[in-house]
This record gives sequence, C-alpha cells and structure tokens, in this order.
Amino acid sequence: MSANGSSGAAPRVLVAETDSMDRLALLKSLTERGGCVARGTASTVEALRELKDTPYDAVIADLDFDGGRLITALEGVFRELPVIIVTDRDDGGAASRFIKKGVCEYVVKDVERRYLLGLPHTIQQAILQMKMDRALRETMREIERSNQALEQFAATASHDLQSPLSNIEMAGELLGPLLEPMGEKAQHLLTLIQRSARKMRALVQNILKLSHVGTRVPALEDVDLGEVLGEVLGDLEAQVRQSGARVHAGALITLQANRTLAYELLLNLVGNALKYSRPDAAVEVAIAGEAVSDPEVDGLGQAYAITVRDNGIGFAPELARRLFEPFFRVHEKHCEGTGIGLAICQRIAEAHGGRIWAEGRPGEGAAFHVVLPLRQRREVKSSVA
Ligand SMILES: Nc1ncnc2c1ncn2[C@@H]1O[C@H](COP(=O)(O)OP(=O)(O)O)[C@@H](O)[C@H]1O
Ligand SMILES: [Mg+2]
Repeated sequence: MSANGSSGAAPRVLVAETDSMDRLALLKSLTERGGCVARGTASTVEALRELKDTPYDAVIADLDFDGGRLITALEGVFRELPVIIVTDRDDGGAASRFIKKGVCEYVVKDVERRYLLGLPHTIQQAILQMKMDRALRETMREIERSNQALEQFAATASHDLQSPLSNIEMAGELLGPLLEPMGEKAQHLLTLIQRSARKMRALVQNILKLSHVGTRVPALEDVDLGEVLGEVLGDLEAQVRQSGARVHAGALITLQANRTLAYELLLNLVGNALKYSRPDAAVEVAIAGEAVSDPEVDGLGQAYAITVRDNGIGFAPELARRLFEPFFRVHEKHCEGTGIGLAICQRIAEAHGGRIWAEGRPGEGAAFHVVLPLRQRREVKSSVA
C-alpha cells in the first residue's frame, strides 16, 4: 500500500467518491488538467485491493464513501500514503481531527465544483510533503542509529580499558618498595607512570559518562534543584574549604528532569568554578536561578535559567563555545583535568531540551548559564524512534 515515489512520473491517484457526478468531474479534472493517472473505485473492498496491488501515490476519498468505512480502514496508513478527504460537511472540528491523525487535506465541496481547481496542486504538495517527511524520518533514524553505535563503541572501549589500567595501577603500587633501593630517578619514573594512570582512569571514566548521557533523558521526575545543589556543595566541601571560597547559593526551584544528570551538571559547573580560581583573589562563587522565557528551549519557552558565576581566571571570550568540546582545555597547566566535564554538561542540558553557554574574560571570572525547560516534552523526543 505504499506510494511509488518515482519522481517525475504522473501521480497515480485513487478516487473513492460516492456521488457519481462528482466522481466523473474529479477523474476528468485530475487526468485532463492535473496530469494524474486517476482511477475510480466503487467499494471499500475494491479500494483496499487496488491499494494493495498497485503503488498509488495518493487517495482522494469522500468522507462518507461506503458509509465512512474506507476512511476508517485507511486510518492506519494516513502517515504513509497521502489521503485527501473531500466532503459536503463543512465541519472545522472534524477537519482538524483528521489533519491531526495525518490526513493531508480536508476539502469542502462547493456546488460549482470550484474545489476541483485546487486539487491537483493539493495532491502534488501532499505527495512532496510525504516524501520529505519520509526522508526526514529515515535520516533521523540513521542519525540515531549511528549515534547509538558510536556511544556503544565509546562505552565498550572505555569499559575494556579499565581492566588493563587496574593492572598498571596495581603493578605500580607493588613496584614502589622494590624500586626504593634504585634511587630517585626510578622513583620519579614510577610517579610519572602512576600519575599517567590516574589521568587515564579519569579520562576513561569521563568518556564512559559522556557516552552514557546519550541524547535522551532516561527517567524523569520532579527534581528539587536546591536540594541537588546542597548535595553538590556537600560533596565539594573539601575543595570549598581548601580554596577558602565563599559560596553564595541562591534559592533554586523544582523542575522536571533526571536527578542524577542534574547533579552531574551542577557538580561540574560548581567544581569548575572552584577549580579555575585566581591565586591572588579570595574565591567567590555564586549560584542563582530565575524563571525565564526562552523560545530556543523545548517546552513552550517556559524555562528556568541557572547561572554559576565565579571571579576566577576566566577565559578569552572567543573560546567560550570551544570549552564545551570534549578534551578542549584552556588552562592545561593550571590544574589537572580531562576536558570532558563541560561536554557532559552540554549533553545533559540538550538531552533535557535545554541549552548551555559560557561568558568570561581573562582574569575577570566566568559565568556559565544553563536554561532548562520547566517540563519535558517526552513524546516529542521519542517520536524519532
Ligand atoms: N569556571 C571556569 N573558569 C575558567 N575556565 C573554565 C571554567 N570552567 C571550565 N573552564 C575551562 O574549560 C575547560 C574545559 O572544562 P571541563 O570540560 O570541565 O574540563 P576540565 O575541568 O576537566 O579541564 C577547562 O579546562 C578550563 O580551561
Ligand atoms: Mg571540569
């Protein structure tokens, strides 16, 4: 029952019209003026058989054809085959219901049959639209498949790297006392091996995390961001104390999100704010939230902006976008890191239908803004599959 999709060929149209005069007029108009190959049908059974045996590009069906049975029978294929309903009933409610179900057009007949004039164009448009929709769906599926394959690859590779890494770490520990009599140089080399192993472990774990975030949010719940921030600050207590930072935590609201990912997001941003501090200034970190309307964010623009601001080393404004690329680090020398934290943050924001960006100036601090929708449009995200 699928359209032939051949470009350039005359569209093949099946016409299911109850009124014989209307049917004749329709067929004549479609073939003579519309350049279509049109064929009439007399019953639902015959129409369905025709559609099964012949690759039609579109169907024009009277709403009441065969007591409404044909339209009911076609409901399952509205999204695969362009169906145009013609009817005497000027009923806006019914029209929008059918359009929602996937019918291409709901055409109300007029006694002078002026509606016939526009039909060939309507058919062409419907066929084109259906082709584009199909191509788009296929591309989305392809992207989804290749994303999944990539994520699976990253997850497997990083998972498999963990066990040889553990061996290196363990061997390093055992080597320590054995190398003692061999002097400073040997100790130094061992320290280098151990530091590299630690760095690699952090990298592997972060790549694993990044690949796990995926493009969709797993379980959703009402998340009290204030509570999550409290937990983050508790877990960063050692860093806060060490840096002597003054942290101003504003009140945050509850919104729909994945709790684990929300935690990961705030942990990275607040962790960075503490980490990329200036040695010559008392560290100040401020976290604040406010309701905003953001048309770029899913969820009808009703959104919430969280800002994490610091007075640290900052960065050149032209690098603001690049910070979110995996492995990109500006302050390589300043402290250890993997360069993946902000990439994870971006994935988390986007998987929630939100966005994230950074502002900064060298030596003047940085601000990271995340805007998340208040509620998640689940059905929109999963309709791709
Ligand atoms: N608050 C900040 N102030 C200045 N630079 C920052 C800040 N947060 C992140 N950056 C810069 O962005 C880079 C990437 O950050 P991130 O992805 O968290 O990786 P990591 O912290 O492991 O280096 C950091 O290396 C740093 O150069
Ligand atoms: Mg970081």
